Amino acid sequence: MFGWQEDLSVGVQAFDHAHQQFFVFLDEFSAATRDDHAQQNVQEILNKMLSFIKLHCETEERWLAAKRDPELLAHKEKHQKFLEQVESLIRDYTTGRIAQSWQVSAILREWLTMHIQEIDQQYAQRYRTRAALDVYQSARF
Ligand SMILES: [Fe+2]
Ligand SMILES: [Fe+2]
Repeated sequence: MFGWQEDLSVGVQAFDHAHQQFFVFLDEFSAATRDDHAQQNVQEILNKMLSFIKLHCETEERWLAAKRDPELLAHKEKHQKFLEQVESLIRDYTTGRIAQSWQVSAILREWLTMHIQEIDQQYAQRYRTRAALDVYQSARF
């Protein structure tokens, strides 16, 4: 899928798969917009993508809450803002305020990449280091 690179990995397989799935949806969206008869399909893909992103954000938040993550609140706020932006972008596209589908997928791709790179990578680093530390400590004692 276009847009996924190994350095986006957060070290949690289920989350990596979810992140990869976003890019799959974007590929499907782009393909559907190239087909003149797929208007219904385009809408379906956008709706599915939005619910998938919502579900992923909730799962990630639950996981961070279980870890008593210090950045949970800040991360939740980022998700909230992000979801609002995605919703309004989809609305702008479906009401014709943005006519070009490539703009929608370019913006979404950029937002998704930025969120994973800048926000999700923060917990990735925190828990990667901690896991390494745990292994080190259990080896010592
Ligand atoms: Fe996140
Ligand atoms: Fe995420």
